[in-house]
Amino acid sequence: MASIILLFLLASESIIIAAQQRQSNIIPGSSLTPITNSSWLSDSGLYAFGFYKQGNGYAVGIFLAGTPQKTVAWTAKRDGHPVSQNSTLLFTNDGRLVLQSSTQRQDYNIGDPLRLASSASMLDSGNFVLYNSSRSIIWQSFDHPTDTLLQSQRLLPGKQLVSSVSKSDHSTGKFRLKMQQDGNLVQYPVNTTDIAQYSYYTSWTAGTGPGVTLNLDAGGHLYLLHATNIIIKNLTDGEKSTKEAIYVVRIDSDGIFRVYSYTSGTWSIEWSSSLNRCDPMGVCGVNSFCVPNGGQAYDCICLPGSKIVNKGNWTAGCEKISDADGCANNESFIYAIQELKNTTWDYSPYSIMSLSEKKDCEQACLEDCNCDAAFFYQDGSCRMQRLPLKYVRQRDPRTALIKVATAKYNTSHRFVPKEEKEKIRMGILIIGVSLAAFGLVMLVIAVVLLRKGYIWAYAMIMPKGDAKLDEDLGPRSYSYFELERMTEGFKEEIGRGAFGTVYKGVILNNTQKVVAVKRLDKVLRDGEIEFQTEMKVIGKTHHRNLVRLIGFCVDGPNRLLVYEYMSNGSLADTLFAPKTPPPWDKRMKIAHNIARGILYLHEECMNQIIHCDIKPQNILMDENGCAKISDFGLAKLLQPDQTRTFTDIRGTRGYVAPEWHRKLAITAKADVYSFGIVLLEIICCRRGVDWNLPEEEAILDEWVCRCFENGELGQLVGDEEIDIQHFERMIKVGLWCIQYESSLRPTIKMVLLMLEGLLDVPIPPVSSSWSVI
Ligand SMILES: *[C@@H]1O[C@H](CO)[C@@H](O)[C@H](O)[C@H]1NC(C)=O
Ligand SMILES: *[C@@H]1O[C@H](CO)[C@@H](O)[C@H](O)[C@H]1NC(C)=O
Ligand SMILES: *[C@@H]1O[C@H](CO)[C@@H](O)[C@H](O)[C@H]1NC(C)=O
Ligand SMILES: *[C@@H]1O[C@H](CO)[C@@H](O)[C@H](O)[C@H]1NC(C)=O
Ligand SMILES: *[C@@H]1O[C@H](CO)[C@@H](O)[C@H](O)[C@H]1NC(C)=O
Ligand SMILES: *[C@@H]1O[C@H](CO)[C@@H](O)[C@H](O)[C@H]1NC(C)=O
Ligand SMILES: *[C@@H]1O[C@H](CO)[C@@H](O)[C@H](O)[C@H]1NC(C)=O
Ligand SMILES: *[C@@H]1O[C@H](CO)[C@@H](O)[C@H](O)[C@H]1NC(C)=O
Ligand SMILES: *[C@@H]1O[C@H](CO)[C@@H](O)[C@H](O)[C@H]1NC(C)=O
Repeated sequence: MASIILLFLLASESIIIAAQQRQSNIIPGSSLTPITNSSWLSDSGLYAFGFYKQGNGYAVGIFLAGTPQKTVAWTAKRDGHPVSQNSTLLFTNDGRLVLQSSTQRQDYNIGDPLRLASSASMLDSGNFVLYNSSRSIIWQSFDHPTDTLLQSQRLLPGKQLVSSVSKSDHSTGKFRLKMQQDGNLVQYPVNTTDIAQYSYYTSWTAGTGPGVTLNLDAGGHLYLLHATNIIIKNLTDGEKSTKEAIYVVRIDSDGIFRVYSYTSGTWSIEWSSSLNRCDPMGVCGVNSFCVPNGGQAYDCICLPGSKIVNKGNWTAGCEKISDADGCANNESFIYAIQELKNTTWDYSPYSIMSLSEKKDCEQACLEDCNCDAAFFYQDGSCRMQRLPLKYVRQRDPRTALIKVATAKYNTSHRFVPKEEKEKIRMGILIIGVSLAAFGLVMLVIAVVLLRKGYIWAYAMIMPKGDAKLDEDLGPRSYSYFELERMTEGFKEEIGRGAFGTVYKGVILNNTQKVVAVKRLDKVLRDGEIEFQTEMKVIGKTHHRNLVRLIGFCVDGPNRLLVYEYMSNGSLADTLFAPKTPPPWDKRMKIAHNIARGILYLHEECMNQIIHCDIKPQNILMDENGCAKISDFGLAKLLQPDQTRTFTDIRGTRGYVAPEWHRKLAITAKADVYSFGIVLLEIICCRRGVDWNLPEEEAILDEWVCRCFENGELGQLVGDEEIDIQHFERMIKVGLWCIQYESSLRPTIKMVLLMLEGLLDVPIPPVSSSWSVI
């Protein structure tokens, strides 16, 4: 059939450019340049491998030489810069295919640089192959598809097609089509994990794998085939096409994948994965959503209170109109909640509150500086989230609540007289003199705990403008060599944790400052730029109860962090090791310090940081006995299963909040849980799990619970002299923190108020929480 098609093409396009040569057996020593001898043609002349025009330069790939548009089917190094016209594609005498560019420093190898080729061929199928000396295929372009499948090409399990930026720019775009190992063919936006939440197309064939492939046959029929050669699903309707045509399937830059046919000089769409251009998630960029506008057209619309970042280009989405920082205490803005019907987005709330009515949820969002948008669910949870909102879509019957700030002073800087002060607060707690030192603004939120029927009020104090960021240079970047010298070849090991090993070092300048150098051994996200960005965020997070990051090193595969040195070891050493633990007052001071550090991470730094690994080993003591939290911000960089190990056979949760086990969204409340366990350890001066003790006492949280329930708190005290009322109060705070349902746990702000005695501690519910896991 290829020959028929060819005749066809040649009839309509009798121009085969002289610079292209038909050469099915390409031997070492051959070369191509963008201008002369620019490509190697397949026997039929339909496909060509070589240079094609891209932007203001050239790229190397496979294209349909016989079509007037020179439709590109594959691109080598799609995210590389276009090369200049004096670049060369050389099949070297030792068997490598190398793109040499005068503008780019490094040559690019096409194929597997470790397996040398003796010949190459541009096949009539559109597959470019490299052979070894016994003429076995050692590399083929069909195994490395970009955004297109050709006739007879199949997408193997685990592989994906990724859309291009646009018709003319073939670098990586925004969408992907994945042939999953489980047999399901699924579309997702790029940079997402393969989970249902992000899928916007599925073939509904999950569970038919492994071994399922996506195939396009010669007749343009697209189907999923099992390894046993059984067709699992026909995507195009299985009728045999009578048309003599060239077929391709491509995931287009708009995120929809389509089967195209080419006959008589024109391309036409034979089949589409979707007819709704708004289906692909993220067509419109952040903080905006897509609405169909008749037929094939669609519009992007910004969320209320937002405007487009670049006029005429939706790539960057929308941003807030006003530069209000979200706090209702800023007198320059008026805040209101606007409802948006049928709207959903990439759901990752930083806080979930139990509230009985939508009105309360709106109010809570208005009062929370961090809240830009919220959902109120019928089950009584109010889920609050920050901008930017990704993948906003209008397809859920839920109503979203968006906080909109409008400046009271408009651009002409004149005052808008009408003042809409929102004063529907649920109750106000007046706190005395002690507060003057602290801050000025008070917020009171009543939290109604529906399920248990408890009603009680929390008060929140918002320290005003407390986010003092040192505007100094931030963390320094060190080379590996420098750190090697600072630590004298990593000589003195001072600690070993889940993330890596810590060594003592000295800064080699006149300060001679002692530092702790942590060598990370498991970094998942090893992108250099990402790591550096992350380090800069962490490095800007300064607080007296956080261990300060002084520098970092990204050198080849090495990732190291340089921290200030803490001379008194960790809280674990302070609490569990010595015969005489610190006295009660000192221990309470430590608990306050930790809570303050967490509060800063959760609510006062620029981007919320959820620590995910609060435990005594991660809390260090400085020379004055002040507790500081370390390792914050690292959870994001490390593989979740390496920061979390559920080892205990009895199902002891340790410091890990139950939602980790339940695979629920992790919020700041997970840290509150861990803090609760640490607090109980601080109160009782023993480890959370200690099998040296009698069995009923071995698991601290369970034992405390039992003692509390039976009114036998005295058992916990030991021979220390403690004010029993204060002791009971602290136990109650601990029990609130370790509530099984994260929504029942107080925020760390409330915890701190309770620790400080500024907020009453209601009786925590104890019974049911412990049986489930
Ligand atoms: C193009 O390639 C052919 C065959 O490999 C060779 O004879 C010819 O000299 C080349 N032309 C140029 C300009 O390099
Ligand atoms: C590459 O070509 C440009 C003209 O397009 C020329 O000015 C330049 O000198 C060439 N560079 C090399 C290294 O040959
Ligand atoms: C060529 O590749 C095939 C398959 O990988 C292998 O079996 C064969 O030994 C190779 N031949 C040579 C000469 O390396
Ligand atoms: C995906 O991630 C890469 C690397 O972090 C980034 O360069 C690219 O812009 C991201 N793409 C999208 C569409 O966000
Ligand atoms: C798919 O289509 C083919 C015809 O092309 C037909 O024979 C087969 O039964 C169909 N399979 C399924 C699962 O629909
Ligand atoms: C839109 O903006 C992005 C960068 O944000 C740019 O890469 C792209 O070329 C722009 N697209 C158009 C059509 O201008
Ligand atoms: C209110 O917000 C504006 C703009 O972000 C800022 O310049 C101003 O300092 C803020 N005022 C207060 C009291 O926070
Ligand atoms: C929301 O969805 C419902 C049902 O799908 C529909 O009747 C209603 O018109 C939608 N509302 C808006 C504002 O899109
Ligand atoms: C600014 O305020 C003045 C007086 O209140 C009003 O006339 C004008 O329309 C406002 N401008 C904008 C852009 O809101």
